[in-house]
Amino acid sequence: MSVAYSFTPAVTGSEASLAGIVTLVQADMGRVNALILSRTGSEVTMIPEVAQHLISSGGKRLRPMLTLATGALAGYEGEGTVKLAASVEFMHTATLLHDDVVDDSEMRRGKLAARMLWGNEASVLVGDFLLGQAFRMMIEVGNMRALDILSTAAVVIAEGEVAQLAAAKNIATDEDAYLAVIRGKTAELFAAACEVGPVLAGRSAAEQAACRAYGMNLGIAFQLVDDALDYGGSQADLGKNVGDDFREGKITLPIVLAVRNSDEAERGFWRRCLEQGEIGEGDLDHALALLLRHGAIAATVERARAYGAAAKQALAVFPASPARDALLDVVDFCIARVR
Ligand code: IPE
Ligand code: IPE
Ligand code: MG
Ligand code: MG
Repeated sequence: MSVAYSFTPAVTGSEASLAGIVTLVQADMGRVNALILSRTGSEVTMIPEVAQHLISSGGKRLRPMLTLATGALAGYEGEGTVKLAASVEFMHTATLLHDDVVDDSEMRRGKLAARMLWGNEASVLVGDFLLGQAFRMMIEVGNMRALDILSTAAVVIAEGEVAQLAAAKNIATDEDAYLAVIRGKTAELFAAACEVGPVLAGRSAAEQAACRAYGMNLGIAFQLVDDALDYGGSQADLGKNVGDDFREGKITLPIVLAVRNSDEAERGFWRRCLEQGEIGEGDLDHALALLLRHGAIAATVERARAYGAAAKQALAVFPASPARDALLDVVDFCIARVR
């Protein structure tokens, strides 16, 4: 039995697209992409092979676009945000290489994950290379505060991933613990990506904090939707396998909510699949049916909407502008996204 599920986006059409931010940052994104490609170079040919496999597979480039757009919002004019945007995408790319090893994931961006082609060792090591390159680019920008923000993010992301590992296969994990994990592993990089532009522009502490709050809330919403999509999305849209989180015993919000409402039999099912890792044919479909019965996916998207609203609210300190409109549209996109 296969359970079809799709949640109805709150917004549709152009409102929910990245078109606004893509147009806003188009010229600078060309420079960011060129920088990204040039900094994957190495005489050790496996490095550009692995890195370019992932980078050329696409990806939304959401985080570097956020760095450029919040820079524009802050009135920054200069090359600094281009380099920091490339750094941010390198940090993201490195975490994806590492994350797919940790999560045993087979697909990424619609292709085989790098680890399936070059192995786990190569994925980890090339991820380290990219992280190192990210820091070199930050140094070239030479702003200590921006370096502080991004290096702190690198630490917090790793903490989030380790906290997630520690919470895995434990169905007693609660909503607070889950939120702490996603703040770390995902939202912190969104927050940092959005904070550094206003920092380079020398904007007030309140404006820097507003951009950070926008990024943090957006990042939480983004991961909530990602965790809903891991059950409710389609492989073709996502470019990654549905059910990865279930197979890994990852305790995401849909699971937290379903476990909270479970009866004894259901609790036994979750324990067997997620804690003991005994997963057979039909179990993913059954899990999805339980999530739907308890409205756990819809409730997860509802939470995402609340964080999205907080992200939008944070930008209220800035006057209306094309950059602010584009950033507001990104929130709708992230809530309604299917990929
Ligand atoms: C994937 O991020 C990792 C998560 C935080 C869920 P994206 O969905 O932004 O990945 P790409 O870069 O577009 O492939
Ligand atoms: C995303 O976690 C966070 C990082 C990559 C650090 P996920 O494990 O949910 O991301 P996907 O689903 O593999 O893209
Ligand atoms: Mg993963
Ligand atoms: Mg995921």
